Amino acid sequence: MVKLHSINELDGHLQPLREKNRKIGFVPTMGALHEGHISLIKQAKAECDFVIVSIFVNPTQFNNPKDLEQYPRTESEDIALLEKNGCDFVFLPAVSEMYPDDYKAEKVDLDHIENTMEGKHRPGHFDGVVNIVSRFFRLVQPSRAYFGRKDFQQVAVVIEMVKQLKLPVKIVVVDTMRNPSGLAMSSRNLRLSEQELEQAVVISQVLNKGQSWAKTYSPAVTLEKMKRYFEDSALKLEYLQIVHPETLNDLNQYWVPGATACIAAFCGEVRLIDNMEMVST
Ligand code: PAJ
Repeated sequence: MVKLHSINELDGHLQPLREKNRKIGFVPTMGALHEGHISLIKQAKAECDFVIVSIFVNPTQFNNPKDLEQYPRTESEDIALLEKNGCDFVFLPAVSEMYPDDYKAEKVDLDHIENTMEGKHRPGHFDGVVNIVSRFFRLVQPSRAYFGRKDFQQVAVVIEMVKQLKLPVKIVVVDTMRNPSGLAMSSRNLRLSEQELEQAVVISQVLNKGQSWAKTYSPAVTLEKMKRYFEDSALKLEYLQIVHPETLNDLNQYWVPGATACIAAFCGEVRLIDNMEMVST
């Protein structure tokens, strides 16, 4: 695996591959890699000639400075895991490389997609995601880029961004990897105590309950039942919504295929998110 730190190095290695029309698969990450990230890399390896993973804790997408400071950084373990899983290139840029003095943000109108859920509770978060993902796409020029369904709204934002900027990249969405307990894998899980790890299971439990209630009840009633179920937990709910898979508008009376319940909750100090399709597509 080749380690790349600068844009010059990146170009030097990728340009010959582009000239030979090799299919480059790209997996952007913020490190603290786990099986969820690895599932993206495996799919990229299966579908592309070369796989490049970026590890960059992007400061502009953290609305809370403490969250940025406490974000886990496990670079040597990450590199070992990438080597083991057959990654071809890892890109580890410095902040000054990604945000030089003359950096100009791209203009993308996220409209209603960012005024709900994560966008509403983490102001500026998706602007930061758009900044960094668009910059990576321009630099790496991948044929395909892989994103986890775990970050459901991020996927909607990236798809909209690619459409508006007319970038020639196919966005591939990979299912959420879970621990045997059901808890969605997340870099933030590293910050949970043993007890919190157990308590956090209520997140996937309430989503599973929702899926079965959805067979009988309307979205509004399903949501009410889910909220009541969650009230008895040790976690503090930030939001729980059932939304249309593309518009992200709340559903009330009628189900649509792909309707998805999205949740954010605090387990102690740690903010966790998850989602699940309530009605299959
Ligand atoms: P990060 O949280 O490191 O996630 C990198 C990718 O891994 C994202 O596409 C995310 O959805 C996916 N992922 C995380 N947990 C997963 C799980 N349990 N199962 C499947 N996929 C999972 O998301 C980001 O970084 C950043 O916002 C980024 C896109 C890199 C921009 O900075």
